[in-house]
Amino acid sequence: VEGKSPGMDDRNMLLEKVVVLLYSLPPDSPVGTSLQNLFIRVLWDDIPKPPATLVGQYQYREADGSKNNPFIPELGAAGQPYARTTPNLHPFPESLPDVATVFDSLMRRDKFVPHPSGISSMLFAMAVLITHSIFVTDHEDLNMNHASSYLDLSPIYGNNQAEQDKIRTHVQGEIYPDVLSSNRLFLMSPGAVALGLLFSRNHNWIAKKLVEVNQNGQFKPLNTLDDKEKRAQDHALFNLARNINCLWFEEVIFQDYIRVILNVNRTTSTWSLVPTQEIKALIGGQVPRGTGNHVSAEFNILYRWHMAISAQDTEWLEGEVRKWTSVPFDQMTPDDLRAVWDGMNKELGDDPRKFTFGGFKRTGKDGMGPFRDEDILKTLTHATEWVAGAFKARGIPEVMRIIDCVGMDAARTKWRCASLNEFREMLGLQKYESFDEWNPSPEIANTAKHLYKDIENLELYPGLMCEEPKPSAPASGLAPGYTISRAILSDAAALVRGDRFFTYEATAGSVTSFHYRDLQPDYENGAFGGQIGKLLMRHFPKAYTYNSVYALFPFTTPAVNKQILTELGIAHKYDFTPPAESTSWVEVKSYKEAERVYTDSESFSNVYGPALAEMTRKNESGLLSYLSLSTSPKSSESFSKVIDDTFYSGQWSTAIYPDLVKLVKKHLDATAWGPSKTARHTVDIVADVIVPVVTEFIADEFGIPLKTKENPLGLFTSKQLYETLTECWTFDPGLGFKLRDKAMKASEMLMAVIEARLLQRRLVAALSAPRTAPSGRSRASSRLLPFASSRPSLVRSLLFRGRPFRDFDTVLITSSCLKPPIDSACVIDFYLREESKKTLDEICKVARQAHNLLDVATMQRFVQEALRLRPAVAGSARRAQRPVHLAAAGEVKAGQLVWIDAASVNRDAQVFPEPDKINLGRKSDVY
Ligand code: HEM
Repeated sequence: VEGKSPGMDDRNMLLEKVVVLLYSLPPDSPVGTSLQNLFIRVLWDDIPKPPATLVGQYQYREADGSKNNPFIPELGAAGQPYARTTPNLHPFPESLPDVATVFDSLMRRDKFVPHPSGISSMLFAMAVLITHSIFVTDHEDLNMNHASSYLDLSPIYGNNQAEQDKIRTHVQGEIYPDVLSSNRLFLMSPGAVALGLLFSRNHNWIAKKLVEVNQNGQFKPLNTLDDKEKRAQDHALFNLARNINCLWFEEVIFQDYIRVILNVNRTTSTWSLVPTQEIKALIGGQVPRGTGNHVSAEFNILYRWHMAISAQDTEWLEGEVRKWTSVPFDQMTPDDLRAVWDGMNKELGDDPRKFTFGGFKRTGKDGMGPFRDEDILKTLTHATEWVAGAFKARGIPEVMRIIDCVGMDAARTKWRCASLNEFREMLGLQKYESFDEWNPSPEIANTAKHLYKDIENLELYPGLMCEEPKPSAPASGLAPGYTISRAILSDAAALVRGDRFFTYEATAGSVTSFHYRDLQPDYENGAFGGQIGKLLMRHFPKAYTYNSVYALFPFTTPAVNKQILTELGIAHKYDFTPPAESTSWVEVKSYKEAERVYTDSESFSNVYGPALAEMTRKNESGLLSYLSLSTSPKSSESFSKVIDDTFYSGQWSTAIYPDLVKLVKKHLDATAWGPSKTARHTVDIVADVIVPVVTEFIADEFGIPLKTKENPLGLFTSKQLYETLTECWTFDPGLGFKLRDKAMKASEMLMAVIEARLLQRRLVAALSAPRTAPSGRSRASSRLLPFASSRPSLVRSLLFRGRPFRDFDTVLITSSCLKPPIDSACVIDFYLREESKKTLDEICKVARQAHNLLDVATMQRFVQEALRLRPAVAGSARRAQRPVHLAAAGEVKAGQLVWIDAASVNRDAQVFPEPDKINLGRKSDVY
């Protein structure tokens, strides 16, 4: 059986039964010999030979792509000649038509025809990144490929060690901001550059995350390392981040790009053609993978999709070429093209840190900082909105004439490529009998006949570019010529299945558990598993809404996306407006200004209102007025104080303390584990103690019946309730679509449960009369309802203060009751660091004697200081209601978003002298 089988159940001793059978048969039995041979075959096929991959130095991609196959290290390495896939047996006539005549009569664009599937220029920007990762023909020796044959993002990382070194900071695996190694990419459209920058940014995000997650503690703080160790750590981080980034590239290819190429994006199917998985037959073994790849001259030609260049990109390119030559496009010679290259390269310079595009300037005093987000975004938005050109004969812009003529000449005189028919035969396709069969347009067929006389003479280059395109139809989205359409899928399989790093090294063990999980497609993300949206939202979180078609489906124009999603009946779930034009948020980093923004609610409004209002089914202004109690300048009360005053007469936080202590102790006793009573004990403090404590406390406080041994009829287990609450409170822009759906369902369910319980409680209270004080308990109700503790609970207070039920739901859903576990995890993480060891000893000392309020206050200070230096939330957003002048942060326009950067505010030396030090003596009102 091929594919993934459930595996053999070795507990039923099948193998031993076969062995018994073998030795029971007579020694000369022909059946026995055959059976034995088969048995050995199965054993032999189990393990790939030669081995699939090697550990150690082979775990990372080489800069030049060598050693992808460790046993044939030069296979597909950069700096090798192209492969030939199809021998040329057909004798071409001695004089073929002049390449310029071929271009002018068959290829030159007569008119721009929009792509029939509404494919955007962004898809072809991706195509450029793909093709320029694997094809960089050497200008001096056209037989040589300067790139490796692997999708290793060489336009970003370079094709050899020297190019790679130019883009690396050599610190903690990072590359310089917004850097791309390839200068050629800068002549391939601003869209391709902008998309390249997305992957360039992704590299540094991954490298930082590797350090942050630090699986198995393999990376050490920089200040503890000597120079050699720093170099080793940088090497590991850079190469691991590169491997992971290339996997992201592959994910976008299969989950977004091929989805559109095969028109799967017109359906709600989550199918994708990922060819990397293990395919194993019981007899016959594994279908090979990770064996290496070597790109060919034929495929270099096949991918020159210059007819797809949009009208707007054509105009841009004409302007670029015009800068360097005044020769009309239809008269340019290879020397004129060289002059354009030289001019462009001179302008770009040779330091990738300074390369610019689209007329944009880099930020930073030295002009080597990142581009402004809005410039990259504008380019991405244009690439998404600009429809690509259709595949067709007479489809290539005239400005590309010299480029395609040079290509055609190389194919003919240097690569000596086979004919179109020979190439088709190699692919197992029928040969064309006539020009009309190749392209039924009489004008194109007759012109080709004129040029080549016999269909057998039709060269590969014009043969591929001018063939009749497939229609846009189910499974045919790209709609290229028939031969291209067939060949690209085989090539995708060869490129990806052949790559050891996309197969045997694309494992959790190789790329870390966090990144392995992060790379898995999410089929409920609104893009049916598409991955590019996650990257766009991750790197431009302030620009895209969670349901933006510009992020989720950028390879199709928004207008066509609207048609598709309308036909699927789900258009109402998506946002079709372009990403925010100005993403320039004002960042507040000083304590004083943060205080102003938080408290001046007349100038700065809360931005979380709409989402919270939606979750609580309240109208936004009602909810906001309720919430604004906590931010109003007059009261300047904390949210918990508002809850306190609204629901209690006493001090809630002090009242709940003893119950929490009891709960913590219960869980600690139940889960701390050691091999013996006296041995050191271990506990997963967050998962096994803090999370269940907080969940049980919330359940008790809100009257949500938990399923326990004592209460088997409860509605949720503690884990289920925690997950439901998590669904309301998780924030990840890349997962917005799914999270919104889940949050809506979870909040609906929670509200229904709470309101039913309140009703039940009110009825019981009414029946059991007489009224008691808020903190008291009537006998009937305590017997009937499992509100466990005797402290003043929200439920009781609510009932006696007569607040509407909906206010109560609002408290649960808006009060971020999941913050305590996250805060606790941050505090614990902070004090478990090597450098906090001394402080941790002090904390343990205080904790051991913490039996009076003074000790509790000291403990609280430790917590506040940890959260100051390691805040659980990166910051908070507000929207300006009117123009405001902030001395340090600058001018804020009405409507502009303001980001209060917690890490900076918490380290403001004006308020926290020696900010990086833990100091328990700071004033209590500064936290
Ligand atoms: C505005 C858009 C584009 C421009 C300006 C452009 C320009 C060029 C130029 C100047 C070359 C010659 C490179 C050299 O020899 O150094 C080239 C080659 C090539 N182009 Fe394009 N191109 C564009 C779009 C595309 C697209 C959409 C594809 C599709 C995948 C594509 C695929 C290729 C390939 C495969 C080569 C051969 C690369 C090599 O052999 O080095 N191009 N293009």
